Amino acid sequence: PVLVVDFGAQYAQLIARRVREASCFSEVVPHTMPTEELLAKDPSAVILSGGPSSVYEEGAPRLDPALLQAGVPVFGMCYGFQAMALALGGSVARTGLSEFGATPATVLDTDSTLFRGQPTEQSVWMSHGDSVEEAPAGMRVTATTAGAPVAGFEDDERRLYGVQWHPEVMHSTFGQRVLENFLARGAGLTGEWTAANVVDELVAAVREQIGDRRAICGLSGGVDSSVAAALVQRAVGDQLTCVFVDHGLLRAGEAEQVERDFVAATGVDLVTVDASERFLRALAGVSDPEEKRKIIGREFIRVFEQAARDIVGEHASAGDHPVEFLVQGTLYPDVVESGGGSGAANIKSHHNVGGLPEDLQFTLVEPLRLLFKDEVRQVGLELGVPEGIVWRQPFPGPGLGIRIVGEVTRERLEVLRAADRVAREELSAAGLDREIWQCPVVLLADVRSVGVQGDGRTYGHPVVLRPVSSEDAMTADWTRVPYEVLARISTRITNEVREVNRVVLDVTSKPPGTIEWE
Ligand code: XMP
Repeated sequence: PVLVVDFGAQYAQLIARRVREASCFSEVVPHTMPTEELLAKDPSAVILSGGPSSVYEEGAPRLDPALLQAGVPVFGMCYGFQAMALALGGSVARTGLSEFGATPATVLDTDSTLFRGQPTEQSVWMSHGDSVEEAPAGMRVTATTAGAPVAGFEDDERRLYGVQWHPEVMHSTFGQRVLENFLARGAGLTGEWTAANVVDELVAAVREQIGDRRAICGLSGGVDSSVAAALVQRAVGDQLTCVFVDHGLLRAGEAEQVERDFVAATGVDLVTVDASERFLRALAGVSDPEEKRKIIGREFIRVFEQAARDIVGEHASAGDHPVEFLVQGTLYPDVVESGGGSGAANIKSHHNVGGLPEDLQFTLVEPLRLLFKDEVRQVGLELGVPEGIVWRQPFPGPGLGIRIVGEVTRERLEVLRAADRVAREELSAAGLDREIWQCPVVLLADVRSVGVQGDGRTYGHPVVLRPVSSEDAMTADWTRVPYEVLARISTRITNEVREVNRVVLDVTSKPPGTIEWE
């Protein structure tokens, strides 16, 4: 793998993704990993990430010079660049010439390993207070900026490279090209990491882990659990049983998408538990959002646990191999964020599907734990998972239960489902599915307003459209959906859904608003 050494500022994951985009497998390791252990992973190249600290700060992470003498190609970025300069005997100083943000850089050699085929002047993303003052002996300076005379260096002999900026962020206009040049020309990698190529490996690994025993998997209808299930099914066939809890809070067509389309496409053995009555009963009379969330979460776990027990019991009484494994759709960012990148012991188990029954001891199968979301989608397509699932936008676990402001009832759910279906149809027809992160439709069930339809007065409910654009749901902006599309949605909803006589648009960013209303 290409190892990305994390100096601790969230850049490492992004770098790892960029490396994957260049079709090379990458893994994030902490800077505290001893050089010996790091080299034992047999890295094809090492990238040193940026970091929050100044190399002068007390306790600032250092770079072990041995890593630079191991014959492995190394590329230092930002903090990694400075740490590399120091370790090689160069000097770093607080020059007072800090640079932050987009900065013009001058390439001194457009035929060098990193810069071949690129313009002399490029815009790069900087974030540094210290600068490399003197390049280490043997390193050729290949780029410069006003605040960092030594902004890039290279040594083809030892295969050591570095730049002061952040090539991994999109604001560095040739960043990806610099990275690709390092991987292909500096490290000689050919780039064989593609979703198509990894499916076979992942399937083989799952087969090895599960052997002839049995596994269960909770399906939510979302991308991660669906792709994980499809992969495990490909590996061990009907030794896998999937459980889909229908809490009755799904959108129109979603249960069918899982029960019919997903099963047809993947051959997964599926047990659906129709628990809508139970959820509605538990939610009766409840309007408080937090209380609704708690109830839905609690009921979900109970239903899933019971189903798991039933399946385990069935196979036990049939004398089958015991159900030993629980499949989870954990992704690489979760693994890295919980310290898993270090191979350390503090990997938290992610309870994607509502938690493990405590008295059922399962071993986790996490076939996607090395993949980023976009790779999971590619793997899903490769496995024939329906596109409607592969490209599904995020949908909250508590479902429509937290999109009805007021008490959740069967009738209200039907109204919301009908309105939501129209909005989704029109947004899809307008080709906006990828641009929009998600578009909750919210029923203000406790609000009524006067309207007029035909010759009569109406006294109906408003629905809110909440289209948002986002990269990670932590922040979001409201999407500027074209007026014609909004007009069509509004006309159709008020025509087709009798109880709704007003459609309003939420134009609040996050923060201060959240994406969901409850
Ligand atoms: P908020 O409303 O906090 O939502 O801005 C951020 C993202 O998380 C989704 N969301 C949930 N997803 N279970 C989930 O699996 C939940 O309880 C839940 N609540 C919110 C929301 O749809 C958005 O994508």
